[in-house]
Amino acid sequence: MGSQPFSALRGFKDLLPGEAEKWVWIESVARETFSAFGFAPIRTAILETSELFTRSIGATSDIVEKETYTFDDWDGRKVSLRPEGTASVVRAWLEHGLVNGVQRKFYYLGPMFRHERPQAGRLRQFHQIGAEVIGEAAPRHDVEMLSLLCDFTARLGIGGLTLEINTLGCPHCRPPYRTALQRYLSERQADLCEDCLRRSAVNPLRVLDCKKEGCRKAVADAPCPVDHACGACGDHFKAVCDGLTDLGLAYCLNPKLVRGLDYYTKTAFELTSTALGAQSAVAAGGRYDGLVETLGGPPTPAVGFAIGMERLALLMSPDVVPRPAPLLFIVPLGAAAGRLLSPALFQLRQKNVRCEMGDEAAKLSAQLKRADRLGAAHALIVGDAEIAQNSAILRNMTTKAQQTLSLSTLADEILSHLAGR
Ligand code: HAM
Repeated sequence: MGSQPFSALRGFKDLLPGEAEKWVWIESVARETFSAFGFAPIRTAILETSELFTRSIGATSDIVEKETYTFDDWDGRKVSLRPEGTASVVRAWLEHGLVNGVQRKFYYLGPMFRHERPQAGRLRQFHQIGAEVIGEAAPRHDVEMLSLLCDFTARLGIGGLTLEINTLGCPHCRPPYRTALQRYLSERQADLCEDCLRRSAVNPLRVLDCKKEGCRKAVADAPCPVDHACGACGDHFKAVCDGLTDLGLAYCLNPKLVRGLDYYTKTAFELTSTALGAQSAVAAGGRYDGLVETLGGPPTPAVGFAIGMERLALLMSPDVVPRPAPLLFIVPLGAAAGRLLSPALFQLRQKNVRCEMGDEAAKLSAQLKRADRLGAAHALIVGDAEIAQNSAILRNMTTKAQQTLSLSTLADEILSHLAGR
């Protein structure tokens, strides 16, 4: 008896042909769109020193407290698989002196890791497409990010999304707001869940985001950050809303929207869909004007977002993904035909004709069956009789109609035939 076959870890998913094509297409649309908006690609390390995330996302955030994959490496150093991309981009930006470069807009795609309870649209290894603008304070950059997000999802043919926005204030207006919220929560302790009781002491804004019925009721009349926004935060938020209106982008104000990562200041947003069930956020982000400084850099404003690729894929109709070009299946009958057809196979592939070749030892019927199962549009058949006549048979796999081509000009004839299709 052999040992049990392995299977992937819970919350880790293989992307098989069929589904993977969708992802490749999402990635290619992302590259095109983000580049049109002036973003340059950046790829950062997947494993980082754990402190990077403790300091940026926040030691009391759920992500750092209970979701990050953290372990000691062989050098005894505490390291974590990145749970998100922003901290790593800022780390790389500082480490490589990008502060002096002309490029301020970056985008990335790749895996992130959080030990959450897996369910539809929530995995432990998930993938984000993210964008960060570092060094820009003006509200028009928040608007630029949101327009990029809306345009990208539109290019993927995803409709029915809602853009929810809020302002979370700044170091000037957040502390008095926090105090007001804590005062409000202290009077409703009996209604809060255990997590929120703890949160109300260490991270009270997160209580606004609790999904539990009791907590939702308890915070129904809670003070909101926007009511306590200082003049600068209020003006910034108004300019962002006006900018969205100018671009004809619909949004709704959600005064209770808060984020699970501690670095946000001013604008915060989520792009949500009711089609996703509990995991309604397809994308989320906001401004993080204090993060660069927190990570040891100069005071530098920044804004960004990340999109969950699994959730995008769930929302996309399979019909929008372009189908690959039809396949030409080459059927060699015998070793001589195999040898003769190999150069044609190579030449056609060099010209981007999607080709596959059968096993020269297999029978015609078996090879045609395989061509059929692969969904080939045409089969090209050559056996000893065709070689003797310097010819090849091109068979339409749907209509079964056949025509004879010349072996000496085979690749050119096929190319002109496929072009005229
Ligand atoms: P986030 O809200 O934690 O923000 O994640 C952004 C998006 O990633 C979510 O809206 C969701 O679509 C997806 N996502 C998060 N966790 C999972 C999961 N376990 N499974 C599947 N998808 C998931 C950030 O990560 C920030 N770094 C965004 C940002 C960039 N803010 C500024 N710049």
